[in-house]
Amino acid sequence: MHNANLALLYSQERIAAEVSRLAEEINRDYAGRELLVVGILKGSFLFIADLVRQLTVPVTIDFMRLASYGTETQSSGIVELRKDIELPVQGKDLLIVEDIVDSGLTLDTLHSKLMQKKPGSLKICTLIEKTGQREGSIKPDYVGLSMESGFIVGYGLDFNEQYRQLPDIHLLG
Ligand code: IMP
Ligand code: MG
Repeated sequence: MHNANLALLYSQERIAAEVSRLAEEINRDYAGRELLVVGILKGSFLFIADLVRQLTVPVTIDFMRLASYGTETQSSGIVELRKDIELPVQGKDLLIVEDIVDSGLTLDTLHSKLMQKKPGSLKICTLIEKTGQREGSIKPDYVGLSMESGFIVGYGLDFNEQYRQLPDIHLLG
């Protein structure tokens, strides 16, 4: 893996600008309400840390972890729940925070699992959306950056558990 080819795609400054824009939108949309932010592990850990520090509405935070089987760079659509949310959901305003939506199959699974718990509302915020291979039916409400295709790493995103710690986002070549 040490000789893998990384090409800078989104700088940390660019990412920070998008995170701030998303936080402003969320603060405006949820003014006067309370948010239950649900981070999806592991990929969203840096995004959620940066995002929640810019939220001005009252916030509680929990995490879920899902794993989708497939090849290293392609989701199979079989999504397993590894860790469920622990805070009570019923009647709450939920915001799912995802790193990236690719096929959208993970998001569909997540959405239906959370809807069974009868939240008051449920919206989705993703840092990155890949538009090229969408299969799922649920659309994110807040999108940071859009790209057509390609596999990216950094700012929480991994390839084989590597590169999550990189401050910028890179295309893996
Ligand atoms: P989906 O179910 O196809 O939308 O895949 C979503 C999940 O696949 C994300 O939460 C990521 O964990 C992973 N994923 C999809 N594309 C990438 C990528 O370009 N880099 C790193 N992980 C990715
Ligand atoms: Mg992953």
